[in-house]
Amino acid sequence: MAFTIKVNGTDRSVDVDEDTPLLWVLRDDLALTGTKFGCGVAMCGACTVHMDGQPLRSCSMPVSAVTGEITTIEAVDGREAKAVQDAWIAHDVPQCGYCQSGQVMSAVALLRENPKPDDRDIDLAMNGNLCRCATYVRIRAAIHSAAKALEA
Ligand code: FES
Ligand code: FES
Repeated sequence: MAFTIKVNGTDRSVDVDEDTPLLWVLRDDLALTGTKFGCGVAMCGACTVHMDGQPLRSCSMPVSAVTGEITTIEAVDGREAKAVQDAWIAHDVPQCGYCQSGQVMSAVALLRENPKPDDRDIDLAMNGNLCRCATYVRIRAAIHSAAKALEA
């Protein structure tokens, strides 16, 4: 069946089954491989994208249920995204990197909602993003740095 979804500012048409997860549409049909597959059951956060700016587990969203504009790691931008990306580099956050696009998408969404998160806010917003390399301490520090940069 044909679906048109808006991804990274452009309408994209795909011909897939209606229950195809958005993750596979992004990766297999649109070649946007920055979004990763981890658990496939909305437990690890590796597949996080934004729908109308809100974080969304793309592995568990059928393409037929997509109602808003999708943004992936390839196109996330704006003040918060720049602050998060700069802080990620400054704190040398990624280890293997596998979980990191999902982590960045969740961190950007958090800072858009809450520009001055405390540790608890960060833990709550990020606890659905798992990291097998255990970069959690650096992630928290980087989010605080990004928040500080956004104050300027
Ligand atoms: S792959 Fe989607 S949450 Fe794990
Ligand atoms: S950096 Fe390796 S899984 Fe998170």
